[in-house]
Amino acid sequence: MQNNLSTSPSPFPFDLTGMHLAPGKGLAVQLYQSLRDRILGGQIDRQVKLPTTRELAQALKVSRTTVVRAYDQLYAEGYISARVGDGTYVSAPASDIPKAPLPAKVVAKPRLSALGQRVATHAKLMPQPGKPRAFRLGVPALDLFPGDVWARLQADFWRRAPENCIGYSDPAGDPQLRAMLAGYLRNARGLVCDPDQIIITAGTQQALFMCAQLLLNPGDLAAMENPGYPRAASALTLTGGKVVGIGVDGEGLIAQELHAHRDIRLTYVTPSHQYPSGVTLSLARRLELLAWAEANQSYILEDDYDGEYRYSGTPLALLASLDRSGRVLYMGTFSKIAFPGLRLGYIVAPPALATTLVNLRMQYDRHSSVPEQAVMAEFIAQGHFQRHVRRMRRASRARRDAMTEVWDRIRPGGIVLPQIDAGLHCTVRLPTVRQQDDMIEKALAAGVEIDALTRFWLQDQLGNGNEGAGLVMGFGGANETEIAASIKTLAKVWR
Ligand SMILES: Cc1ncc(COP(=O)(O)O)c(C=O)c1O
Repeated sequence: MQNNLSTSPSPFPFDLTGMHLAPGKGLAVQLYQSLRDRILGGQIDRQVKLPTTRELAQALKVSRTTVVRAYDQLYAEGYISARVGDGTYVSAPASDIPKAPLPAKVVAKPRLSALGQRVATHAKLMPQPGKPRAFRLGVPALDLFPGDVWARLQADFWRRAPENCIGYSDPAGDPQLRAMLAGYLRNARGLVCDPDQIIITAGTQQALFMCAQLLLNPGDLAAMENPGYPRAASALTLTGGKVVGIGVDGEGLIAQELHAHRDIRLTYVTPSHQYPSGVTLSLARRLELLAWAEANQSYILEDDYDGEYRYSGTPLALLASLDRSGRVLYMGTFSKIAFPGLRLGYIVAPPALATTLVNLRMQYDRHSSVPEQAVMAEFIAQGHFQRHVRRMRRASRARRDAMTEVWDRIRPGGIVLPQIDAGLHCTVRLPTVRQQDDMIEKALAAGVEIDALTRFWLQDQLGNGNEGAGLVMGFGGANETEIAASIKTLAKVWR
């Protein structure tokens, strides 16, 4: 049923003929929009007295609440005003009211910048929602995060009379958190740095944008591993860089290939666990890369996203700890040890760049959330973080073991897994893209998430063909039972 009003003769000082309020679609909003459009279109004159809410409700056969809500919205936006003891009047300022009736709505085509246009051509990028399933990429053991401890620390923060610390804060980040991180990096990762070199960020993604914006002019060459991290490629290109893919072999990024290009301003690498191939950058390559950066006055963006997860062998020295000439910007994240929804990460910058990065962060969004940073600082200060790192490493090792043992026993699709020494995912190559897509489709239909290796190759550069096909599987997010069950499912659907 529609609430139609035909008024003849109109009991109101304006004509509501043809006002249709469609049921089930928010009557108050429709009434508000209809009255607003009539005021703006000049069909209801300025200074006109409106009917009472009761009168209008009766005429429209809607509840009085509907009319009250519509009037409230018009009041709030200044279209009508109340005169005490008299009633409600149209009060829209004359400048708001066009002389001629409003033209029909035309949705304008967005006029975008070059960057806006590039972003607009991306499909809407949404991460997989819900509890992580096997073999979702990029998520750690979220089920093990000590939410009770976090909640207690949050309550403590709010009890400590925080009015003197919840205003705007240091754009470099919470000083205690930076001091704690400097200690953690020294003890756990062998990286000696001053807290003043640390800038807290909203995760690695913001760190990548900040570093790229700081170091690249439009058209500058930025090198990265190919295959590599698509989000890094986006950050480098969206900030104006021209991305050059550098090959990856069993020792990681083939540093020699950098010499084939003149004037590469920066190189993005994932040395601890190359994303997505899983290779560790050898010491020889690390030294070669550093020598290249020094000789060419280039920078290195070292993304240590899952560096805490090493299951065998000793971790190699971080590029940032080997750097003698201020060429390495180290990026860490809490996404893989705590949880990605936290949006906390950090850059350890060469001293000559730290203040500039802090100033840049100030212009972006001032700083990360004060309470979340303070709670993380306490989480580290009280030893919970270190305990949680150990717990996560143990759990991920157990998940890795389940992955390799059950897989080796069952061999779904006849596929052999590589040895997994680090990280939270593994990659296997396949002979053709067709086989890759077919296997992924069947897995997905059976509820098992697998990524296509072809997704990780830079566009327009080698690797989009069959030679780039494969499967990328994360084992961090699901527990051992779920991993085993998913492997059995794969064996069935890939038979
Ligand atoms: C290569 C790489 N770097 C960094 C990150 C972490 O990004 P963020 O800190 O923005 O969550 C990820 C997450 O999946 C990643 O795969």
